[in-house]
Parts: sequence; C-alpha cells; structure tokens
Amino acid sequence: MNTIGIGLLGAGTVGGTLIHRLVEEHAAIAAKTGLDLQVRSIAVRDPSKKRPFEAPGIAITTDAKSLVDDPAVDLVVEVMGGQDPAGELVLRALEAGKPVVTANKELIAAQGSELIAAAERSGVALLFEAAVGGGIPIIRPLSETLAGERITRVMGIVNGTTNFILSRMSEEGTAYEDALQQAQDLGYAEPDPTADVSGADAAAKAAILASLGFGTWVGLDHVPHTGITDITATDIRYAANLGYSIKLLGIAEDTSAGVSARVHPVLLPTDHPLAAIRGATNAIFIEGPAIDELLFAGPGAGGDPTATAVLGDVIDAAREILAGAQVAPRIRFAPSELADFGSVPTKWYVRLEVADEPGVLAQIAAAFGEAAVSIKSVWQEGTDDEATLLIVTHRAKETQQQEALERVRNLDCVNRVAAAIRVESDES
Ligand code: NAP
Ligand code: HSE
Repeated sequence: MNTIGIGLLGAGTVGGTLIHRLVEEHAAIAAKTGLDLQVRSIAVRDPSKKRPFEAPGIAITTDAKSLVDDPAVDLVVEVMGGQDPAGELVLRALEAGKPVVTANKELIAAQGSELIAAAERSGVALLFEAAVGGGIPIIRPLSETLAGERITRVMGIVNGTTNFILSRMSEEGTAYEDALQQAQDLGYAEPDPTADVSGADAAAKAAILASLGFGTWVGLDHVPHTGITDITATDIRYAANLGYSIKLLGIAEDTSAGVSARVHPVLLPTDHPLAAIRGATNAIFIEGPAIDELLFAGPGAGGDPTATAVLGDVIDAAREILAGAQVAPRIRFAPSELADFGSVPTKWYVRLEVADEPGVLAQIAAAFGEAAVSIKSVWQEGTDDEATLLIVTHRAKETQQQEALERVRNLDCVNRVAAAIRVESDES
C-alpha cells in the first residue's frame, strides 16, 4: 500500500471535517486512488476542546513546528487560517521538502509569491484549491486547463457569507445582523466575520484569481475593496425595481491600463448568470476570446465542500510524492503593468435625497456633466422635502465618477447622497 503520513495544522470547521473524512472514508479513498492516507498528528490551539470527530491513534499537539518536522509527516495540510504562524509553518514545511496543501486565501494572497518560489526551489507542490470558491474546482482549471487561454475577465461571487446575507435580505427581508448570525452559525463566516463583510476575504480571493488568470502576481495592496455593510434593504428594493440584483463581486480584468482587480458591491442585471447565484453559493464567471464564457458555481464555504477540495489536493500531492517527481509550478508569474483603479471605467447607481424644487435636476445634471460623466437614466420617487432621485450613469473613469459624486454631495439642493453603488453591465 502507498502510505502517506499527513500532519494537519488546525482542526476547526475545515480541518475537523477533513479528519472525519480521512478516517471514515479511508477504505473508499484507498480503493479509488490506491493511497493509504494516514493522519499522523494534528496541531490545535486548545487540545482540551471537545472535537466533533473521533481521532483514535492520532496525536493532538500544540507544538505545530514539531508536527511539521516529524519524519512521519510526509505532507502538511494547513487549515489554521491567518498569516501568523501559518506562513512560517508552511515555509518550514516547503523548505524541508514537504508538499503543502492549504485552504488559506489570506496567506496565499499575502505571501503566495514567496511561498510558491520556496515550493519551486524544493521541487514540491504548494496546492490551494480550497482557497477560492470552497468546493468549486477553480484554481486547477485556471492554472492548468485554461493556461493557454487569453483570459480577458474573471468575475465572481467569491464570498459565501456576504452572498448569503444579501440573499436573505432580498428574498426574506431578514435584517443584516440576523443574516450574519445565521451565516456564522452555519460555519460560512471567517473566525472574525469582519473579513467577510468588509470585502477583505473576497479581495484575497480576487488577488489569487487575477494572479492565476493573468500570469502576473497581483498583491493584495493592488486590490481595493469595499464590503456590504452600507447596503440597505432600500437599495436592494430600488435595484430590483430597476432590473438589478445587488451582489458583492470580485472583478479581475485585463484593461487598456493594465491588469485590474477589485472587490465591491455591484448592481448586476437580473438576467446575468451571476445574479441567479443565491445563498452561500459561489460562482466564478470567466471570459476569453476562445472559450467565450465559462461559469463555475457551487458551494463556496462550509466544512464539507471545502474539505473535498482540500482532499483533492492531498490526493494530488500524495501522488506526486509517490511518483518522486520534481514538481514544477503550474503558473509562472511575469511582471506586468497593474492598472490604477482610478483609470478603470465604471458606471454607478446613485440614490439622492433632494428637495423637489425647480432647477434641482438641472444642478445635479450639471454636476455630473462638469465631471464629464454622462447620465443614463433618472427616476424620481416622492415629492417636496421627501423626494428620492435614482440616477444611473454611463461608463466613465472611476476618478471622474468620484469627482461627480463629490460635486453632487456639495450641492445645497442635495440633502444626502444616500447610496452610491457601481453597476456592472455590458452596456456602456
Ligand atoms: P476555524 O474553524 O477557526 O479552525 C481553525 C483551526 O486552527 C482550529 O482548530 C484552531 O485550534 C487551529 N489554530 C488556529 N490558530 C492556531 C495556532 N496558532 N496554533 C495551532 N492551531 C491553531 O477555521 P476554518 O473555518 O476551519 O478555516 C480554516 C482555513 O480554511 C482558513 O484559512 C479559512 O479561510 C479557510 N477556509 C474556510 C472555509 C470555511 O467555509 N470555513 C472555506 C474555505 C477556506 P482550536 O480548535 O484549538 O481553536
Ligand atoms: N468565509 C468564507 C466565505 C469562507 O464566506 O466565503 C470560504 O472562503
């Protein structure tokens, strides 16, 4: 039997499910792959914690470094999260010539370039299929199957927690806080859910997708992000009336100004394939001249789907260990121009609270015009002091849109810019 010893860093939502699967499904995995995958030891913070899995004969330790160094551990799985100490431990394993499987997008987005280089030096695999899209196979398709495609845009719902919250708010009228609590109870959210709702988790995933899609390393500091904390039930309702759904998207595209990656809420036409993605489901939409459009969709968070992706990587890495092959990196990263977000064309939905008086619309139109932003549509609800204007612009550079918003905000006739959300549609 081809035995591979596994050391697991972390045994929470993902690690706990993985251990359960490796123990319970040992015979089935062996029958299908010819591999005898043996968990040797598990590193956790608190060994006294009650675990929802049986781990007979598996050592539980707080000494993660010794676990990595253990000669019985052939392969390290990092599912502890965060950068510290995960980064140091992953590097230690790679430098010792042990392949690493990780689900940690924060670590890959922040330190992936150095870690991939370390893996290359040691000739071992660093695999991170679970880092983006949970159970959806997307890293392998992007870096292998689509390696020959000239990808133009990768756009995705890459955070399950926020899509779950937005779906609950729009479909069931659930309050934001209640929907967030449900997402936490279901194991979708990060240990600190601020990473989800602020867009930081999606930004890490967008950085990884952009790097693999365009073959140039896109660091996290090149991915501006805005989360969903300012999205209200009012805008979800207005957007629906205008024919849009509100989604938090990670967008990576090859623009005339260079590669751009960003995360923010968008109004998406309800007939766009991503608009139909509900709950914690993730979906990644890839465009390229030869493949036209591809949609990858599935469970983006939660123990079981994520553990399936980790398990696939473990099996892949185990096969490489047994083959004794010097592993080459899947994608090589060449330096390339990264676009300044200010120069990227965007279009906006803006909700204004205004006094319903003669000349107000003219002043607002002039403010947009002075910033060279063209208005596509205007819709008014209410009268007198309670009037609401909904404006959708045409596409213009992000800096021009920001200037227009600033000019509008400074108008005496505008009581409040109540919302400003980008629109993503194929129209100009
Ligand atoms: P989690 O439930 O919080 O589990 C983290 C585990 O790591 C716990 O067992 C914890 O020990 C252990 N740990 C944390 N810091 C440690 C340290 N310094 N030393 C030793 N052990 C430590 O997290 P999770 O949801 O499983 O997520 C794990 C990773 O998978 C993260 O990178 C996350 O972003 C990624 N991921 C998660 C999902 C998901 O749906 N949850 C999906 C895709 C990717 P204790 O148990 O003793 O506290
Ligand atoms: N917290 C993440 C999410 C887990 O909600 O998508 C998957 O990476």
